Amino acid sequence: MADENIIDGKAFAETLRGRIGDAVTSLKNDHALTPGLAVVLVGEDPASQVYVRNKGKQTIACGMESFEHRLPDSTTQAALLELIAQLNADDSVHGILVQLPLPDHIEEQAVIDAVDPEKDVDGFHVINTGRLATGAAAMVPCTPLGCLMMLQDRLGDLSGLEAVIVGRSNIVGKPMAALLISANCTVTVAHSRTRDLPAVCRRADILVAAVGRPEMIRGDWIKPGATVIDVGINRVPAAEEGKMRLVGDVAFEEAAAVASAITPVPGGVGPMTIAVLLRNTVIAACRQAGIAEPTL
Ligand code: GUN
Repeated sequence: MADENIIDGKAFAETLRGRIGDAVTSLKNDHALTPGLAVVLVGEDPASQVYVRNKGKQTIACGMESFEHRLPDSTTQAALLELIAQLNADDSVHGILVQLPLPDHIEEQAVIDAVDPEKDVDGFHVINTGRLATGAAAMVPCTPLGCLMMLQDRLGDLSGLEAVIVGRSNIVGKPMAALLISANCTVTVAHSRTRDLPAVCRRADILVAAVGRPEMIRGDWIKPGATVIDVGINRVPAAEEGKMRLVGDVAFEEAAAVASAITPVPGGVGPMTIAVLLRNTVIAACRQAGIAEPTL
């Protein structure tokens, strides 16, 4: 497969961050508004620590304010809810993200739903889920919105295309379905109980894989010419003893030989998630300040 058929999420995210940086400069100059993002991390999960560090760095690189709150694993739900109440009331904070997963003793949805829906830059609050499902102006979850942007960039108008999403999570599968329905696709959401998954996948003009199972989707499950978006990030043992490598939910080499376009892992969907988070923060800041939203 030629390089032009690989969807370069890293480059796409870089371009988007450039536009975000320009929008932030205008907000500062024209409206004395600096968008601010608060990220809350509870506990010591190593992958979450890396994400939170990257979010903070990229927020600052785009000219925004970053507020990091790192709390110990022993933090009570009540203390976490108290912090969220403070952030909801803080006018310099336009976006709030609580890094998931949370420790077992904290009820995740209760915390998500405590965030002011207008500051819910993850788009996980039940109000935003409802707005997205009904076509109202929502905060849209970052990973699926990043996928949609890359699809529209590649394919233009998605009307009438058959889209199959493998995975039905609240974070990716379900919001991805809502976005693709709004974009006039015919949408199927497949999952672990789907009968004859390979046959369902073979119908897809657009195949979105978000199951978290390394290289589960094989080349012969893919319709020739399809566009494949691989949301999976799985760590598997590398050839070299003791080393790990990242693979997606799609067997890349096999799929790339059949698809017209495919996102690699790493370097596909992953870099888009944080870029869209920054975009959502700018949009949230504009909505809160009553300023027209830039197109990002
Ligand atoms: N953990 C893994 N992905 C995400 C995400 O998109 N948002 C939050 N808050 N936590 C995550």
